[in-house]
Amino acid sequence: MNGLLEQKAVVVTGGGRGLGQAFAVHAAQAGAAVVVNDVDVEFAERTAEGIRAQGGRAVASGHSVADPKQARAIVDRCVAEYGRIDGLVSNAGVNYEALPWQEDPDQVRELIEVNVLGVVYTGMAAAEAMVAQGGGGSIVNISSGASLGQRKLGVYAASKGAVASLTYSWALDLEEVGIRVNAVCPLAHTRMVWKSERSLRNCPPDRTPSRIAPLVLFLLGENSAGITGQMIRCNGPQLHLVGQPHFKAPILERDVWDTESVERAFDEVFSAHLEPYGLEKRVPPKLRKWTENPLRTA
Ligand SMILES: NC(=O)c1ccc[n+]([C@@H]2O[C@H](COP(=O)([O-])OP(=O)(O)OC[C@H]3O[C@@H](n4cnc5c(N)ncnc54)[C@H](O)[C@@H]3O)[C@@H](O)[C@H]2O)c1
Repeated sequence: MNGLLEQKAVVVTGGGRGLGQAFAVHAAQAGAAVVVNDVDVEFAERTAEGIRAQGGRAVASGHSVADPKQARAIVDRCVAEYGRIDGLVSNAGVNYEALPWQEDPDQVRELIEVNVLGVVYTGMAAAEAMVAQGGGGSIVNISSGASLGQRKLGVYAASKGAVASLTYSWALDLEEVGIRVNAVCPLAHTRMVWKSERSLRNCPPDRTPSRIAPLVLFLLGENSAGITGQMIRCNGPQLHLVGQPHFKAPILERDVWDTESVERAFDEVFSAHLEPYGLEKRVPPKLRKWTENPLRTA
């Protein structure tokens, strides 16, 4: 949608390749002046050059979102170059697969530093600059359907769950200064998907990053005024909201819960209300005798 982001200055982190590159290119085509950030600076440069070659406005930043000073420098670059910041797409991310007992603490730390702290640091700096220029703006965090729980992706899933919680909390905090905060759960062919045989199997070839960009542009633009605190998933053909976790009825009450009364609560009440868990919605063992179809295995 040409002109949707006219007069707007937008930062896209991790914009050197994959989804971030598509978000940066489409934002520029919609009229935004863009800071294309990527720790792989030559990829950021290449994306920015491509945008300029098409007549758009873009500069590159090779800072890492995982360092608070560098995250601030990304936002400072936007303000120095374009005089303001109107949008932030916190897209930079990493992932790997491991079973819980195979996790490497250094790899765990690195993932959390990029996927969680990176989103916090960049978002803090953007919100501060947006407030300083009089309020208003849009932050789009990139979460994942994996935040619901996925095999071999525990730490990645936890990082994306943290992004979801941050989105809901910051949407509350920033509403009064007119800054909206939403999260997007994408699915698209990128390096991240190519690395995993399972992800590749679940990602048909037509799921390109460009198919997710219109949703991100909508959330950055004025036409999504009034939309905040939402998590939205797009996998190419499907677009839907992701329901928020909530306190589930029945809520039992008594002055004090001892272990015996907790056990009775599970036996007599909660056993009928247990939740299927994880992205695959696995039924808890206690319920399987009721849900598994004996005729199917007979
Ligand atoms: N591809 C999918 O299907 C999918 C699904 C769900 C969520 N996501 C999320 O989408 C986002 C983009 O991922 P992608 O699939 O395009 O992967 P990708 O690996 O192609 O791109 C990620 C980019 O982030 C950059 N990056 C990594 N660490 C950085 C840092 N510290 N500072 C700045 N840049 C850094 C990388 O250099 C890379 O260019 C990620 O947050 C990812 O978790 C992707």
